[in-house]
Amino acid sequence: MSSPQINTYSDPARVAEAAAVFFAYLLPWQEKVTVALSGGSTPMLLFQHLYADYRDRLDWSKVHFFWGDERCVPPDHPESNYGVAEQLLLHHPGIPPANIHRIRGEADPVAEAKRYAEELKEAVPLVNGVPAFDLLLLGMGDDGHTASIFPDQLSLLTTPEWCAVAHHPVSGQARITLTGQVLNNAHRVAFLVTGAGKAGRVREVLMQEGDWRQFPAAHVRPTHGQLYWFLDDAAAGL
Ligand code: 6PG
Repeated sequence: MSSPQINTYSDPARVAEAAAVFFAYLLPWQEKVTVALSGGSTPMLLFQHLYADYRDRLDWSKVHFFWGDERCVPPDHPESNYGVAEQLLLHHPGIPPANIHRIRGEADPVAEAKRYAEELKEAVPLVNGVPAFDLLLLGMGDDGHTASIFPDQLSLLTTPEWCAVAHHPVSGQARITLTGQVLNNAHRVAFLVTGAGKAGRVREVLMQEGDWRQFPAAHVRPTHGQLYWFLDDAAAGL
């Protein structure tokens, strides 16, 4: 695995702008681009920026959208990762509905994990027999979780399953998450992390200090792809 490329920017808005360029640059060179979105609040700025500044500049019909994880709530629930992305970006008329491969948070979690794995098998090109996204966006919680792989569920990093049911360690909320095997099979993995509150964890993960082995984000090391970290100065501890 190659070393992560770490980029820092003055503030979250600049992180979003840089990530948008990174996303846009994929499109001219491929007929189909598979992108897995992360949830949480950090990517919201990216979605807003993509809609505002790239709405009419890209061939959006090339892009197929997936998710790295989803909360087990209906799509119109405020906590739905799909719902947030749809409101901010995916309602774009240039994105064919067939290109939006949402995880059905309203479904039975065990059945949906199985179904989504089948959808990935059909919709995402395989490398070494595993779906390989062109771009996988990830965030990191201040506990070092990523997607919905939490420190108390590290087995999801090594399970042979591509999708699994997880549970938020505090709220108990059921989640569907991609597992380590898929996360680490992407061609490009980009963490977007902002805010001073994450600076300590970012350092532990990137420098492999302290209890870094217990943090799922530290185990995202693409087997054949490239890893990127887009940080604002605060998350970089600058
Ligand atoms: C989710 C995300 C999760 C998120 C981190 C960071 O569904 O919540 O996939 O992994 O990326 O919790 O979230 P923030 O960007 O809100 O800090």
